[in-house]
Amino acid sequence: MSALFETEHAAWPFPAKPARLSDDEKAFYRHKIKQLLKARNAVIVAHYYTDPEIQALAEETGGCVADSLEMARFGSSHPASTLLVAGVRFMGETAKILSPEKTVLMPTLQAECSLDLGCPIDEFSAFCDAHPDRTVVVYANTSAAVKARADWVVTSSIAVELIDHLDSLGEKIIWAPDRHLGRYVTQKTGADVLCWQGACIVHDEFKTQALLRMKALYPDAAVLVHPESPQAVVDLADAVGSTSQLIQAAQRLPHPQMIVATDRGIFYKMQQAVPEKTLLEAPTAGEGATCRSCAHCPWMAMNGLKAIADGLEQGGAQHEIEVDAALREAALLPLDRMLAFAAELKLKVKGNA
Ligand code: 13P
Ligand code: SF4
Repeated sequence: MSALFETEHAAWPFPAKPARLSDDEKAFYRHKIKQLLKARNAVIVAHYYTDPEIQALAEETGGCVADSLEMARFGSSHPASTLLVAGVRFMGETAKILSPEKTVLMPTLQAECSLDLGCPIDEFSAFCDAHPDRTVVVYANTSAAVKARADWVVTSSIAVELIDHLDSLGEKIIWAPDRHLGRYVTQKTGADVLCWQGACIVHDEFKTQALLRMKALYPDAAVLVHPESPQAVVDLADAVGSTSQLIQAAQRLPHPQMIVATDRGIFYKMQQAVPEKTLLEAPTAGEGATCRSCAHCPWMAMNGLKAIADGLEQGGAQHEIEVDAALREAALLPLDRMLAFAAELKLKVKGNA
């Protein structure tokens, strides 16, 4: 792998945190959102990293709380005519690309992702043009334009399997944008991968020395790590995987405690899955570092109750996702490939069970 594009994620300004609501205000907005969902024939599609009260509301109203792959599947197969995507912008764009006939609303269109921001289409396109012999695989955490430039889209839950499959066909690969996940899949598969050097501002902050000290404090704990984390942190893991795979690992592993290296939003669903286990946040401070995200994505945190109510009520340019028709058509191809590959994989796993 070579470092061809170094992202300057420290330079991105973090958005302001949503104003804290009183209990009365929360009850008011929850009630309002439920009414608006009915009136609009809408459903909430939420990511595991949104705040627990948003995940609870999605569950209560028949929506989903899931990883980015399952969000895409749920949104496209649900009969609602409007999807309220509580997550970050690429998730809303993916929903719109897969379901152009639906209205896709977001609490805010300012909810970015450092991986998406660190992979601008012009530079990325030039990078691909310089390596025309390589198959282009991009992570779902990218803009519609970057997806449109790719042969495949992939999420962390099927990244190793897809790269392994392409490698078995003798294909050389461009991987973008996450450098840690790129390195992880390369090590797992031995494939020839040229990697874009983007990073997630949340997972990049997990710290090895502090994690070792924590392991010493909790010798019975298992360590669960999302592969967007640095190599030295992945090396300490008992399980590495996407958000949904980490929840499954918490259920599967016998340990009474779990040290979890991913956004703390996941604790809501993980604790539901393992109510008897203790969940601990992996350290983001240590080795002289001062965490900025401190294990919670600042853009995911923008999905507050008031913003969801505003999105459903107002729609329009502040909230509605639009994707240019030609771009949509081009981005649909690699997304459809991803969904077909994931479905095939699921069948294989079922067949082997
Ligand atoms: P998943 O695909 O595991 O849901 O992850 C999305 C993401 O943004 C991770 O930071
Ligand atoms: Fe992007 Fe990281 Fe936030 Fe996920 S947690 S949306 S990868 S910035």
